[in-house]
Amino acid sequence: MAPLLRCHPSLGLLLLVHAVSALNISISVVAPPAAAPISPSLASFSIEQDRWTDWVGTTSRNQFFFNTLDNLKQLTGVPPLIRIGANSEDHTDFDPNVRFSEAVFPAPSATVPYPEAVSLVVGDAYYQTAQFLPPNTHVIWGVNLGQNNITAAILAASSIAKAFRSSAIKDAGIVLDAIEIGNEPDLYMNNGLRARNYSSSQYTNEWIAFATNVSVAAGITPTSHTKFWGAAFAGSSHTTSGFSPQAIFSQGILSSAPGSLTSTISQHRYSGSFCTGSGGLLQDLMTKSTIRGNLSIYDPDIAATHEKGLDYVLGETNSYSCHGAPGVSNTAGAALWTLDYMLYAIQIGISQVFFHQGIGFKYNLIQPATLTRSILDGSTLPEPLLPHVQPQYYAAIIAAEAIGDSGNAHAVELSINDPQIAGYAFYEGTDLARVVLINSKAYFKSDTTARPKTHICLSFLGGRRRTAIVKRLAIGHADDTSGLTWSGQTYETKNGRPSGNVQTETIHVFAGIDISATEVVMLSF
Ligand SMILES: *[C@@H]1O[C@H](CO)[C@@H](O)[C@H](O)[C@H]1NC(C)=O
Ligand SMILES: *[C@@H]1O[C@H](CO)[C@@H](O)[C@H](O)[C@H]1NC(C)=O
Ligand SMILES: *[C@@H]1O[C@H](CO)[C@@H](O)[C@H](O)[C@H]1NC(C)=O
Ligand SMILES: *[C@@H]1O[C@H](CO)[C@@H](O)[C@H](O)[C@H]1NC(C)=O
Ligand SMILES: *[C@@H]1O[C@H](CO)[C@@H](O)[C@H](O)[C@H]1NC(C)=O
Repeated sequence: MAPLLRCHPSLGLLLLVHAVSALNISISVVAPPAAAPISPSLASFSIEQDRWTDWVGTTSRNQFFFNTLDNLKQLTGVPPLIRIGANSEDHTDFDPNVRFSEAVFPAPSATVPYPEAVSLVVGDAYYQTAQFLPPNTHVIWGVNLGQNNITAAILAASSIAKAFRSSAIKDAGIVLDAIEIGNEPDLYMNNGLRARNYSSSQYTNEWIAFATNVSVAAGITPTSHTKFWGAAFAGSSHTTSGFSPQAIFSQGILSSAPGSLTSTISQHRYSGSFCTGSGGLLQDLMTKSTIRGNLSIYDPDIAATHEKGLDYVLGETNSYSCHGAPGVSNTAGAALWTLDYMLYAIQIGISQVFFHQGIGFKYNLIQPATLTRSILDGSTLPEPLLPHVQPQYYAAIIAAEAIGDSGNAHAVELSINDPQIAGYAFYEGTDLARVVLINSKAYFKSDTTARPKTHICLSFLGGRRRTAIVKRLAIGHADDTSGLTWSGQTYETKNGRPSGNVQTETIHVFAGIDISATEVVMLSF
């Protein structure tokens, strides 16, 4: 038990004597109207498709990848959603004579140790490997718009549909939620896939033409489960000129026959592009206000999407482009960013967050394949690095545990008057179930002063809670790249399954709780 009475109102003076900073947080025991429904698969994945079979397996499942997804499923009852596509989506061709896939990669460099393929040719067996995902996984697959060859898109879409009609996939309850046509078409004018004057109206016309044929090839109809994901833009003008959901809506994309089969608008977001890292950059990433700034710029796009009755997702996101900043995106501090980022996203109407992953990318939650080059600078590793999880993976675990398996979870951000502490209350139906607190003040290896701590006093509205069970994400330093534990358990194991005994504390809530710099605390009631 923690020291008693420190938060008792009549003993306010004691708080002053204790030289710990203190914060009051008030929590409603009954879900307030603002508590948003939260998807059990909130933490989902976007996977670069050039090396998809390295993730999932070819003739048998990649058990490590399966386990890391299944860990999340065990906590919420629902596996993460998987979007496959991204940059290499627009460099993919179909050839029935290719068994799985054939990729051509550029030479690795120090800044891009694991570049995306410049060309990828796939056959039926490539799409069929979705059978190795956890049962009941929902999938979104991208087809090529970049090369402007409608035949190639039709062939891929037919093969995808054929795979998802197979008994191996159907019997596992694995379903195709959507097809995406083209990745980040707002960048085509810069990356050579279209002329410099490429516009959103030209894009809208092309999309309608492609989707007309792709809907037939993939069996997308008003009554099918499978629909289209729209947009997949890298950025947004947030207005009806330039590229944005608002622009393509005003150009009539949704009123076209295939456009009416759109379920979801997807946009992409990175907090910046840094190919080198620093402590300042890590603190910047973790900071509450920059997280809110990076997401709330999408408010107008989300509102416009919801007005059309469509779902809004971040279909591809992560910390910094360049596959992550070295020493920043692959650290424990980035885990705190990941957690606050996805929990804040649902507060503003984003229903799902797909963290982008590629083999050897710095910002991965999961490294599902053996690596022989350093993810940080491309140098040859002294010995091969076996499949493993990176610090951000713990954020997905914590979110999954906080959401729970009730199937009726809601969450609301707590009002906390502190620039470095964020918190969320989780409800099952209307009942308070858990609280997650995140202290995003970075505590670095180079820090020589004592690790700062904040004492949190909890008060409850509309009911009482006397005790709480506490779990902590133990982190040595914000810039550590391994060695984290969640309530005593590590996921940094050979098979990706947790190891170690679960360790919890029980507190009297009137005593409050301490949270250290660079720490996550979860209270269960
Ligand atoms: C916290 O609440 C207590 C009791 O209501 C009050 O005495 C104290 O000043 C508050 N502390 C802060 C830091 O707001
Ligand atoms: C378009 O794709 C098809 C199928 O892959 C291919 O046969 C054809 O040559 C492509 N057309 C062009 C102009 O590249
Ligand atoms: C865009 O530029 C190309 C040449 O690069 C030209 O052929 C085309 O007419 C231009 N389109 C528009 C709409 O201006
Ligand atoms: C696409 O669909 C249209 C309309 O049904 C059809 O005329 C056209 O041949 C199709 N294109 C291809 C490449 O199959
Ligand atoms: C996004 O986050 C980065 C730090 O990661 C920050 O520098 C940038 O200003 C933020 N952008 C917005 C729009 O808030």
